[in-house]
Amino acid sequence: CTQPSQPQLLAGKTITITAGPTREALDPVRFISNHSSGKMGFGLAHAAVSLGATVNLISGPVTIAPPAGVNLINIESAEQLLEQSLIFAPKSDAFIGCAAVADYRAAAIAKQKMKKQGDELTLTLVKNPDVIAAVASLTEGRPYTVGFAAETQDVASYAKGKLSNKNLDMICANDVSQNGLGFNSDHNALTLFWHNEQKELTIDTKSALALNVMTELAKRL
Ligand code: CTP
Ligand code: CA
Repeated sequence: CTQPSQPQLLAGKTITITAGPTREALDPVRFISNHSSGKMGFGLAHAAVSLGATVNLISGPVTIAPPAGVNLINIESAEQLLEQSLIFAPKSDAFIGCAAVADYRAAAIAKQKMKKQGDELTLTLVKNPDVIAAVASLTEGRPYTVGFAAETQDVASYAKGKLSNKNLDMICANDVSQNGLGFNSDHNALTLFWHNEQKELTIDTKSALALNVMTELAKRL
């Protein structure tokens, strides 16, 4: 099917988007990860291209194909995501952190496959770097910084807390306690928060929501 052509609201702009899950290795054959499908981030990348932007898409392992016309950078771990984000963010007008970054990684990655031993196994995990907070604290070349927050309760207050604690310009919050929305779904509903404003985007396909989010972003660049 052919897509209607969009007004080129992002012509001349470079947007870097992170998407998908991260994978934190435990040993050569095992990892910790999450159910992020990458659909929301890839939808944002598609929308940004359709509005005329140059798009860097930094993605964890996903099964979906990247939109045509993006510069795809594949990563696995949160540390790799941080490294690539700090390369591309200062060259971007906006940075959108849509990746579901694992909050913790193994304190040490076993060099050999771990062998089954007793009835219980205790893993020691250490906190991962906060990628979007690192981007938002850049002193040179700080892009307009947009976060995502998936919450199961107190959505507005947690999202607004992240907006200010991470020094973001905008955050897109979704209530993942609603059946069939958010993680791994084709549909979502978002509330966008800025420091002095908010806007509800009611339930829709991720691609339609992505176009709305990018249009709101374009107004502010
Ligand atoms: N994020 C990040 N680096 C991390 C964790 C999160 O860049 N190590 C980003 C996500 O990409 C998202 C935003 O921060 O844009 C919010 O992620 P979320 O998991 O909701 O927030 P956390 O700060 O990790 O808080 P918690 O998981 O405890 O709710
Ligand atoms: Ca988290």
